[in-house]
Amino acid sequence: MIQLLILILGLSLLLSLGVIIYLLKKQSSAVNATLNAVSLSNHLSTNHSKIVGDFYNETTDKFLGVYGEVIQAFRTKNVSDYLDYTIESAELKDGQTILDAGCGVGGPASYFASKLNIDVQGLTISEVQVEKSKTVISSKSLKGNVTIQQGDYHQMLSLYGANRFDRILFLESFGHSTHQIQLIESAYACLKPGGILYIKDLFKREHPNAEDGAKIDAIIAEINKAYCYNVADFSVIMQTIRRLNFLLLSVKTPEVKTEEFEHLTISNDFQNLFDIAKIVSWENYVFPIDFYEVKVMKPPFDVNIEKHLYFLNRPNS
Ligand SMILES: C[S@@+](CC[C@H](N)C(=O)[O-])C[C@H]1O[C@@H](n2cnc3c(N)ncnc32)[C@H](O)[C@@H]1O
Repeated sequence: MIQLLILILGLSLLLSLGVIIYLLKKQSSAVNATLNAVSLSNHLSTNHSKIVGDFYNETTDKFLGVYGEVIQAFRTKNVSDYLDYTIESAELKDGQTILDAGCGVGGPASYFASKLNIDVQGLTISEVQVEKSKTVISSKSLKGNVTIQQGDYHQMLSLYGANRFDRILFLESFGHSTHQIQLIESAYACLKPGGILYIKDLFKREHPNAEDGAKIDAIIAEINKAYCYNVADFSVIMQTIRRLNFLLLSVKTPEVKTEEFEHLTISNDFQNLFDIAKIVSWENYVFPIDFYEVKVMKPPFDVNIEKHLYFLNRPNS
């Protein structure tokens, strides 16, 4: 009888040991899978970012020749007017800490700091742009501070830390990312509660019909190739923004008066300069993108409290 009991005890011990080993193995392969995914995403982002960095290292002089120190295609003839508009639209105010993610040579960042007593951190993937930004910044008399550094905006969380910024701006820089969902997640983490993410960029137009759709797809592919871009899909961006519980403040085409808009010939000059993605004829050309400003706020309250009417938790501004 005692021998039988010892046998049963031994068997159950062996069985439990087997189960424990199986569970441990399973857990460690799950951890490995997550680590692989993280390092894969870092690897992909780093590879593409390096290509973008090389692109700007080589081309920044040409950009400066055509665009000046504000490297944005959608703008007014007097570019300061457009930056004033941006200050208003992105609600930039004295006392704020701002990340200009993809800051070029610091034209916008230094302009904002010449108008406002703000602390602007500018991040560009191009070392050449950091170097050029020194002259741009020193040419202005600043009310606030501007610090420009080289780095990958996908790494903003490790570079700047969580809950750091009142504003995160992407001024025609977001579309260089091939990891746009993770980029928005990082921006969410780096914003203070109540902070605003402001993306001004090109978004792929929805197809009005199959024929135009094919043209749009072809032109977008050329733009992406020529400018190391990844023109954003508005619905994917919106879905991510809403999944994170960002509060949607506005989506609009920048409000520029038609007569003040700098005509696209500027882009043609640029295309002539580069001889890439050149628009040979406007005949049959279907404009492939929409320019939008997307402005969203990280909730300044806990969205998990009072879930039944969560938006009423928003403080009055
Ligand atoms: C079209 S320029 C816009 C520059 C600037 N926002 C302006 O208005 O003058 C795009 C900018 O995005 C930056 N950029 C692209 N990918 C980046 C990345 N992964 N990390 C940081 N900056 C990036 C480029 O270095 C470049 O400065």
